[in-house]
Amino acid sequence: MEKLGRNDQCWCGSGKKYKSCHMAIDEKIHYYELQGHIVPDRDILKTPEQMEGIRESSKINIAVLDAVEKMIGPGVTTEEIDQVVYNVTTQMGGIPAPLNYEGFPKSVCTSINEVVCHGIPSKDRVLQEGDIVNVDVSTIYKGYFSDSSRMYCIGKVSPEREKLVRVAKECMDLGLAQVKPWNFLGDMAQAINDHAKANGYSVVVDIGGHGIGLEFHEEPFVSYVTPAGTEMLMVPGMVFTIEPMVNAGTCDVVVDDEDGWTVYTEDGKDSAQWEITVAVTKDGYEILTY
Ligand code: MF3
Ligand code: CO
Repeated sequence: MEKLGRNDQCWCGSGKKYKSCHMAIDEKIHYYELQGHIVPDRDILKTPEQMEGIRESSKINIAVLDAVEKMIGPGVTTEEIDQVVYNVTTQMGGIPAPLNYEGFPKSVCTSINEVVCHGIPSKDRVLQEGDIVNVDVSTIYKGYFSDSSRMYCIGKVSPEREKLVRVAKECMDLGLAQVKPWNFLGDMAQAINDHAKANGYSVVVDIGGHGIGLEFHEEPFVSYVTPAGTEMLMVPGMVFTIEPMVNAGTCDVVVDDEDGWTVYTEDGKDSAQWEITVAVTKDGYEILTY
């Protein structure tokens, strides 16, 4: 890493002098690093220009989920959801990030009931009254990535499913409340995990969230089961997802060996997930997708 003088231009592209921009933050990061904490590399901290690109991408991401919200319901196939995601994304000038991502065949993930994540849309899967569905939309716009997902209850669902969907959202919100500079990702994780456990649920260990912005999945891997005070230090300019997968039963999951994508709960019980993209700001967070 280049050593900057106090009066040099800051590395972040703000145009300001280093001493009146990132110098104090860099010193603070270094202090935590000396104490043995995991700290972010400079290259995952977004510049103001990159933040603006991610915001634009996020606007499309949200508009796509809003469009899904209008058409989803009993009798709709997950293939029809996929078509809406593809059409709205491309009409707004974006690209659906999942399409052809490591061979993923569709534009969106649709994960129903005991499917934890990465469900593949299909013309054969008709949504039924009582289903709970996660629709996970990821968007590329001018090279910038955004990611969010929502749960939809199809018609009237059982009180058990309704509660799982509600608690999964509460987990995300409680995690979000922990996002501010000089907290740790583990602070967020513990808030999430504690709330899931208090409701008799478990949080998936094997799959987590991720940094995002210039790539679909960037450093760091974001766990939602690690203890407070551990994992990466939160620093202004970090952008990552909050997307805990909350299971009604055990946290164990299995991947479908036929399609190589669909992740199920091992015990066949239900799973729910909400996802947002957030940035760490000077004094808290900015929600990019919701
Ligand atoms: N959207 C998922 C996430 O939250 C990733 C899906 S990868 C795909 O990280 F290929 F299945 F789309
Ligand atoms: Co994600």
